[in-house]
Amino acid sequence: MNKALIALFTTVLLATTSYLSQEDPMRTLYSEWKQQYQARFASQFEDEYRFEIFKQNYNYYQEENSRQSSYKLGLNQFATLTDEEFESIYLGGLDDSHVQIDETIKSYNYPESIDWSTKLNPIKNQGQCGSCWSFSAVGAFEAYFIFTNGSNFSYSEQHLVDCDKYSYGCNGGFAGNAIDYLNRNGAILEKNYPYAMKDQDCQKATGDTKAKGRKTWTTAEQAYEAIAQYPISVSVHASNWKGYTEGVFNNCINTSTNHAVVAVGYDKKGNWLIRNSWGTGWGLQGHIWLESGNTCGVLRRLDQVI
Ligand SMILES: *[C@@H]1O[C@H](CO)[C@@H](O)[C@H](O)[C@H]1NC(C)=O
Ligand SMILES: *[C@@H]1O[C@H](CO)[C@@H](O)[C@H](O)[C@H]1NC(C)=O
Ligand SMILES: *[C@@H]1O[C@H](CO)[C@@H](O)[C@H](O)[C@H]1NC(C)=O
Repeated sequence: MNKALIALFTTVLLATTSYLSQEDPMRTLYSEWKQQYQARFASQFEDEYRFEIFKQNYNYYQEENSRQSSYKLGLNQFATLTDEEFESIYLGGLDDSHVQIDETIKSYNYPESIDWSTKLNPIKNQGQCGSCWSFSAVGAFEAYFIFTNGSNFSYSEQHLVDCDKYSYGCNGGFAGNAIDYLNRNGAILEKNYPYAMKDQDCQKATGDTKAKGRKTWTTAEQAYEAIAQYPISVSVHASNWKGYTEGVFNNCINTSTNHAVVAVGYDKKGNWLIRNSWGTGWGLQGHIWLESGNTCGVLRRLDQVI
């Protein structure tokens, strides 16, 4: 090759490289994301469509993160979902604010901060099924036995998904009523009724383990008091939680609830520490901090297993 040709070739190569590196950081990020989450789409068309959503999510997260805010958003397992898909697949805590107000408590006494997150069973993952309500109920139920009996057994969510007909399986349900179901019929160990992530016929309605009952709390003071004892079931509006990665979240537009979780602590400022059921890859090892007060409707429905 003569020198002129080499020079020309090099120029073309450099131009191509720089064209690619300008054009492609998003594609590179997308490829890395697909590799990390083992994501495979059915067709090239679907793959391109998901890439467009991925870019939109990414740009939105960058924009949000550049504002001065108390939390950060980022790419996680939900990065190729639209908000509508995310809501319809993962949020199934039906709004239920029929609460009985407990008038018996007159004074409060609780520590200034609590964090039970490391005292519980490992974070679970509801997968593509709107069964959050069962994870919230079972999470509170497990917490009750960990704290009152010292036994950390893991109990079955699928049992509730299949058998608690007050709720709608993967189409959503009510955590408070699910706690009542467990106390009436008994809980079954997770290993004896494993999670299937889908609606099935009820395979075994009753189990061996019951708590005594359920107490529904209504105010922030009562919530701190209850959480100081052990984690409780709470409902939230989680439509904006898709990209949460860290910090104290306060960007909920709505306090009517569509997701159920477990409150596992609070800090000195009164912010709530919440345990979710989307695996450890989401949020802070599966948790989110919510700003104090009724952020995301967190005070709308507070159920403690007793
Ligand atoms: C219960 O606790 C023990 C000891 O801390 C731990 O090895 C075990 O994995 C826990 N069980 C469950 C179901 O998390
Ligand atoms: C309570 O603790 C005892 C003793 O460790 C254990 O045998 C029993 O299974 C526990 N009960 C529940 C419901 O976890
Ligand atoms: C609040 O959320 C509920 C349930 O998801 C929905 O029906 C309602 O339209 C929402 N309201 C607003 C103002 O977004």
